Amino acid sequence: MCGIVGYIGENVEKILLEGLSILEYRGYDSAGIAVLRNGKIELNKRVGKVEVLKQSVKDKKKFGIGIAHTRWATHGKVCIENAHPQFSRGGDIAIVHNGIIENYDILKANLIKDGVRFSGDTDSEVIAKLFEDKLNLKSLKVVLQKLEGSYALVLLSKYQNKLYFAKNKSPLYVAVENGRAMVASDPSCFVNFSKKYFDISDGEYGFIDKNSINVYNKGIKVEKTSKSINFKFSSQKMDGYSHYMIKEIYQCKDALNNIIQNYNLKNIQSILEHIKNCNINRIYIIGCGTAYHAGLIGKNYLKNQTNFEVNCELASEFIYQNNLIDDKSLCIFISQSGETADTISALKYCQKHNSITLSITNVEYSTLAKQSRFVLPIFAEQERAVASTKAYFAQVLVLYILSKVLAKKEYITTLKKFQKDLSFNSDDIIIKLSKIISLKDQLFFIGRGIDYITCQEGALKLKEVSYINCQAMPSGELKHGTLALIDNKSLVITIITDKKLLKKSINNACEIKSRGGKLILFTCFKISLDFKNVFDYIVKIKPTLDEFMCLQSIIPLQKLAYFTALQKGNNPDMPRNLAKSVTVE
Ligand code: M6R
Repeated sequence: MCGIVGYIGENVEKILLEGLSILEYRGYDSAGIAVLRNGKIELNKRVGKVEVLKQSVKDKKKFGIGIAHTRWATHGKVCIENAHPQFSRGGDIAIVHNGIIENYDILKANLIKDGVRFSGDTDSEVIAKLFEDKLNLKSLKVVLQKLEGSYALVLLSKYQNKLYFAKNKSPLYVAVENGRAMVASDPSCFVNFSKKYFDISDGEYGFIDKNSINVYNKGIKVEKTSKSINFKFSSQKMDGYSHYMIKEIYQCKDALNNIIQNYNLKNIQSILEHIKNCNINRIYIIGCGTAYHAGLIGKNYLKNQTNFEVNCELASEFIYQNNLIDDKSLCIFISQSGETADTISALKYCQKHNSITLSITNVEYSTLAKQSRFVLPIFAEQERAVASTKAYFAQVLVLYILSKVLAKKEYITTLKKFQKDLSFNSDDIIIKLSKIISLKDQLFFIGRGIDYITCQEGALKLKEVSYINCQAMPSGELKHGTLALIDNKSLVITIITDKKLLKKSINNACEIKSRGGKLILFTCFKISLDFKNVFDYIVKIKPTLDEFMCLQSIIPLQKLAYFTALQKGNNPDMPRNLAKSVTVE
């Protein structure tokens, strides 16, 4: 994972550091910057977030050529030696890398045999050490031919006013304008700098100077066409909120409004019409983490509305199993970032089987969007907190629309009804519960039917930002094993939003109560007096149409995760060990 950026122009440190802040969603274990000035490469690396590096960088105004990196550790622990930039054998070339070099161990062993010394233990240092101190297109091509795996690279030489770059499987973009040039993992870095950018493709490499971009593939010059930066980036301001996570939970409302507005427009309706007219025999929904949970809800919608066989699969497992896929299979890829490596691999696998590919994503210029036959945007605007909230909400809504379209039914009326009902619960009870939960080491979530999926998403959210071990399970499964863990120290969250399952779900709650466990109930129903004492706390969820109860009930759980993280003193926007965009398999 990791974010990389290179820049030629005035204010070099300032612009590189701003770029790193934008890219911090790709990892925040350590950060580093190298700037060429007066024939010397000035290096500064720090363990920790970009902010730590920012505090230590002084000269921010002058012209220069530089590269910078924010790391999510894959190979090698988090330490200064493993932070980027890394240096070539003689120290004349600095490089930053995003990706994983799969044959690094063999390359490293050979270099060591040749007497090359390493200071850290990353695969990226191996790329750097493959260079003697000559950097040109020829030496770059020779090194690239030795690499197996994924990489986006930016290289800086002590002797040239240029930045070299190369790409395979990890994203890389370039912009050149008015005597300034920039290369980065995400075009959002260019937003205050250029109105257009170039998309570097796999296998391409080259260099930029302050006026031009030069791209090659297998030694042949490639003419690139620029793309306009017409996508919207949400404001980096907190708008009165303390963290992006809580701001983004409240932005679920905006996502719903945007979806109602945009899914009424001709261009989106025409995409939906094309999908509807495809000859489909079965559907696969594929994603990771929260996106997978949205897929599970989508599977439910599609099964309720259509007669298709519908499967929902984890992208990280999908390509290793035997799947019945052909040109009539609609394969739907759910991904907020559109850059999740496992989901992209699943897309490639489905393309090989000639299936109809559809991405549901929040980033319209992402790899997934570029490579899919159809794209349905979720209109959630940029999501910054690592814990996905508004994107989940919007993914579920788009899957709802898709199920209605495939069933040849109208969807705007029900969405408008939900628009009126959407509720965010008061913080008081949630904060009170977060205090109780923050004292626990483990927590169970139980539910039946669609509530079980909400439990899975609620448990993922809570564990991700609070570091409490949360286990979600179908209520009916408890007595098949897990009940053995319940005692008078146990705390169990149960969600009940389906009338048909109310009685059975209460019975399961009673089984926990009888064993001394404490229960927190999230429900839209009035609980009769006979059962009220089963629950230690009851959080009332405002009722809405059945199909949207899963969204109405996820909001208090997202808030619960947020407030519990605060109780534990964690930064909910940047939980430990995680990154927003998971670009390695
Ligand atoms: O960008 P994606 O939607 O493909 O990301 C998938 C997961 O990595 C992501 O949903 C992850 O589970 C979140 N951190 C959960 O909050």
